[in-house]
Amino acid sequence: MRSFLILAVCVAAAVAIPLRSKRFGTPIEVEDACNPNLGNQTFADDPNDCGSFYICKHGWPVSMRCPGDSIWTPETERCEVPHNATNEACGFVAPTTESPDLGNLEGYPGPCSYECDDGGCVGLNQVCDGVANCEDGTDEPEEYIY
Ligand SMILES: *[C@@H]1O[C@H](CO)[C@@H](O)[C@H](O)[C@H]1NC(C)=O
Ligand SMILES: *[C@@H]1O[C@H](CO)[C@@H](O)[C@H](O)[C@H]1NC(C)=O
Repeated sequence: MRSFLILAVCVAAAVAIPLRSKRFGTPIEVEDACNPNLGNQTFADDPNDCGSFYICKHGWPVSMRCPGDSIWTPETERCEVPHNATNEACGFVAPTTESPDLGNLEGYPGPCSYECDDGGCVGLNQVCDGVANCEDGTDEPEEYIY
């Protein structure tokens, strides 16, 4: 009876080990990224979901979910709001804000509202202020005297 009990304990232990060493559903590249002898990373991207990531705890990936609609961003190792986020693992690129067209700012009140003759630009408040702000000096009247 006693030897049967010991056998039962041994069988239970043998069953328990594979359960610990196999995480269901974790992609193999995530296990490799966390493996201290391979990637040895602290965080791993989820290649299938931009809204989640893995924390490597003692070499084991633990799946984590980003709050709300935020996106895991490997570069900053944080969940970022969508317009600040980039995640190549699942093809997420933050929407870019278009830079202003500096060639079409006539009459536009802003830091680049006066066009210098050399193609540069300065603010209207820098024109005729006694200081040459354009590299060619064309924001000051002296330059227009023939
Ligand atoms: C994994 O990284 C840790 C912390 O950076 C370091 O201490 C350890 O030596 C690394 N392990 C291997 C196998 O390179
Ligand atoms: C998004 O990025 C900008 C520029 O880096 C930063 O000023 C802003 O705080 C960020 N927004 C959030 C919610 O992190």
